[in-house]
Amino acid sequence: MSSFRWISALQLGCLQTSRGPQLLQPASACAVQWRPQSSEAVSAARLPCRVKLSAGKRYAWCACGYSKKQPFCDGAHLKQAPSISPLRFSPDKDGTVFLCACKQTKNAPYCDGSHLKVIYRDAVGALKGLFK
Ligand code: FES
Repeated sequence: MSSFRWISALQLGCLQTSRGPQLLQPASACAVQWRPQSSEAVSAARLPCRVKLSAGKRYAWCACGYSKKQPFCDGAHLKQAPSISPLRFSPDKDGTVFLCACKQTKNAPYCDGSHLKVIYRDAVGALKGLFK
């Protein structure tokens, strides 16, 4: 429930549930619009994006992970994660760099290897799922 927000469910006196919109009362009973909004970044990919950047050009790195134009912002954060803004930057020199796509880097927008933790965490989770 932490990554989703219920819009006006309580204000309208409707059934609140953490399991999803299908468990809400029918639309005729109450006019609730369920809209998932994230306050945390999501991983767009497990590996960084190799991109060629030009010195002095302005870029907007997607910090939320919802952009379809990774690693750059396409405005998807406005609907999916309004509390997250893109990181605007301008490189000092031309070059090819790795920009973070897992959104866990401590050196945004550049990759710092944090995706290895994401891969490890996902692998451990998958293995635990096998032995349930
Ligand atoms: S779409 Fe992710 S920060 Fe804009």
